[in-house]
Amino acid sequence: MNIKFANHLNCLFHREKPIKLTLDALHVVDGNECFEGLLICEQCNIRYPIIEGVPILVKDFVSYVSHRGATYGSWLLACKTLKMKNFLKEFAYRLNPEGVSNDRYEHDGHWFGPYKWTQYDFTFDDPFLKLLKRDIKPTELYDRIIGRMPLSMEGLALDLGCSMGYATLQLSHKYSYSVGIDLSYSSIREARRRMSQANIRNAEFCVADSVDLPFDALKFDLILVLNLLELVDSNKLLASIHRLLKPHAEAVFADPYDYNREPRQLLELDGKSFRELLSDSGFEIFEKSRKAEAFIPWILKIANRVYLFYFVDVIRASKVSKHR
Ligand SMILES: C[S@@+](CC[C@H](N)C(=O)[O-])C[C@H]1O[C@@H](n2cnc3c(N)ncnc32)[C@H](O)[C@@H]1O
Ligand SMILES: [Zn+2]
Repeated sequence: MNIKFANHLNCLFHREKPIKLTLDALHVVDGNECFEGLLICEQCNIRYPIIEGVPILVKDFVSYVSHRGATYGSWLLACKTLKMKNFLKEFAYRLNPEGVSNDRYEHDGHWFGPYKWTQYDFTFDDPFLKLLKRDIKPTELYDRIIGRMPLSMEGLALDLGCSMGYATLQLSHKYSYSVGIDLSYSSIREARRRMSQANIRNAEFCVADSVDLPFDALKFDLILVLNLLELVDSNKLLASIHRLLKPHAEAVFADPYDYNREPRQLLELDGKSFRELLSDSGFEIFEKSRKAEAFIPWILKIANRVYLFYFVDVIRASKVSKHR
C-alpha cells in the first residue's frame, strides 16, 4: 500500500464521527510502499493489518481468516516481521479448526482462475473465442463502460468488488485517482501486482466489504459496481454507495442477474426490479438505461472446456436525493 493512502482510511467502528487510522509501517520498500504494517485506530485500538502490501480493512478479522484458512497459513509463513507474526498468531487461538474454510474467490478457490482469464489471461486462440462469429473480447464489458466515460482530471473513482482490478486500472486513465476494493485478498494482491507491472501510480486497492467501507461520506465522483449484485444485500449496497457518492455523482451497475451461480438467500433482482429499487433508493436512472436493458457479452472460462457466456445489463444512475 502506498503510505499516503492511509490518509484516506477511517476506522470502521465510528461511522458518525470518522476517525483516521495511524500507520505503523513495519516493512517499507522503495521509500513509499508499505509491504507490511498495521493501521491503528487511536480511539478503539483496533489494528488492521497490511500484508504483502494489501491493507485488510474488515470489522471481524477472526471471521475473515476463518473463511480463508489456506491464505492465513501462507501469511504466517511469509510475513517479514516478528510484530506481524505475533499479530497474526493472536487470531490462531480464536479460530475453531472445524469451522475453517477457503473462500471461492481466494487463490485456491474455483472462481479465482475464471476472473484471471477474463480480465487478463485470455487469448484469441482460445477455442471458444475462435468459434464466435464476431470477435468478442472477454474484457469488452469493461472497455465499453469505461471507454465511453469522459476524462475527469479531478475526480475520484471507486470500483466495488473489483476482483483483479482490470476495471479499476482502466478507471485510473480517466480519473485522477481510482480505488478498488474486494473481499478477496488474493485478487487484491494480484490487482496490485498488475498495477505495479503497468507502472500505474494513481490507483490503490484494499480488502474491504462493499457494504462497510473505510472511506468518508460524499467522497467519490464515480462508483462502479460490476457483477456484484448476486453477492451482497442490495439494500445495504445501495445505502453504502449513496453514502459515498458526492451529490449528483454517478454510479454504474452492470449485472447478468445470475442468482443460480451463488448459494445465497438474497433478494433476487432482474432488470425491472433493480431499476425500481434504484429509483426508490435515491438514484435517478439516466434516460438511456431507463428505456431499455442492455445486452453486453461477458465470458468467464470456468474450466478447460467449460465457459459461462452472459449478456450483462448496464445501468447508469446518479445520486439525486436522500437515501430513504
Ligand atoms: C462476480 S465477481 C465480479 C468481479 C469484477 N467486478 C468483474 O466484473 O470482473 C464478484 C467479486 O466480488 C467480491 N465480493 C463478494 N462479496 C463482496 C463484498 N461484500 N464486498 C466486496 N467484494 C465482494 C468477490 O470476491 C469477487 O471478486
Ligand atoms: Zn476505532
